[in-house]
Amino acid sequence: MNEQPALPDKRQVAISFSRAAKSYDEVADLQRGVGSELLARLPVQLEPQRWLDLGCGTGHFSRVLATRFPDAEGLALDLAEGMLKHARPQGGARHFLAGDAEHLPLRDGSVDLVYSSLAVQWCADFPAVLDEARRVLRPEGVLAFSSLCQGTLQELRESWQVVDGYVHVNRFRCFSDYQQQCAKAGMKLLGLERKARVLHFADLRELTHELKSIGAHNLNPGRPEGLTGRARLRALAQAYERFRQPSGLPATYQVVYGVLQKACR
Ligand SMILES: C[S@@+](CC[C@H](N)C(=O)[O-])C[C@H]1O[C@@H](n2cnc3c(N)ncnc32)[C@H](O)[C@@H]1O
Repeated sequence: MNEQPALPDKRQVAISFSRAAKSYDEVADLQRGVGSELLARLPVQLEPQRWLDLGCGTGHFSRVLATRFPDAEGLALDLAEGMLKHARPQGGARHFLAGDAEHLPLRDGSVDLVYSSLAVQWCADFPAVLDEARRVLRPEGVLAFSSLCQGTLQELRESWQVVDGYVHVNRFRCFSDYQQQCAKAGMKLLGLERKARVLHFADLRELTHELKSIGAHNLNPGRPEGLTGRARLRALAQAYERFRQPSGLPATYQVVYGVLQKACR
């Protein structure tokens, strides 16, 4: 089924991630793994003078980028003030900016690397993100992003479907949208790949606790209002059990990795 990637409004995303800032790092194993894989995909010869960590969150990868490129000037940008407040005192970047990936508050041709891990799945207008990245990159500059696509949290989605048929799981663009939009981005595509990562949880409560702690619980428009009743949660837990594996309840993430390069002048 080809769903419309209707995404939550930005204010809600910012509020949700701001609230999650304190708990985020304790449960961000998936994010750490994905961000590290993205770093491994940067062109080896890349020596940026100025980099941007787009959707920096708590700033973990800003600090990693600062170590990897010690002579460069780092910028860390996020939509959520609460994340920036948490990231700023820990350093890494020289500047921490509040801003939106779809409208970057940066000058044309002002950075050599835009690194963005697990942030752009929250942007409804991905072509606008690509346009903005190309605009702020210098010639031969690189955009490296990771994101999530359709198939992510499929077990949870299907289990909710059994219970009440509502969309309780954030929607994600399909991989073919990433392929088409990257092909039209006006940059050279150095790599675009989808790779599944499966996490395992002892029970449903552990899984939903993790989603909440990283601020990634369902924010879809059209989600049912009000408390999730005990009976419905029991029904959900029961429906999820059919996916159980020896190592626990699986939660699949379909991760997209993309690396693009702006043409030289
Ligand atoms: C899952 S966190 C990832 C944080 C960090 N990159 C990491 O890998 O640990 C996603 C971040 O993207 C930010 N974000 C979401 N939409 C954004 C937008 N339109 N512009 C900038 N940041 C955004 C959120 O506020 C959140 O901090």
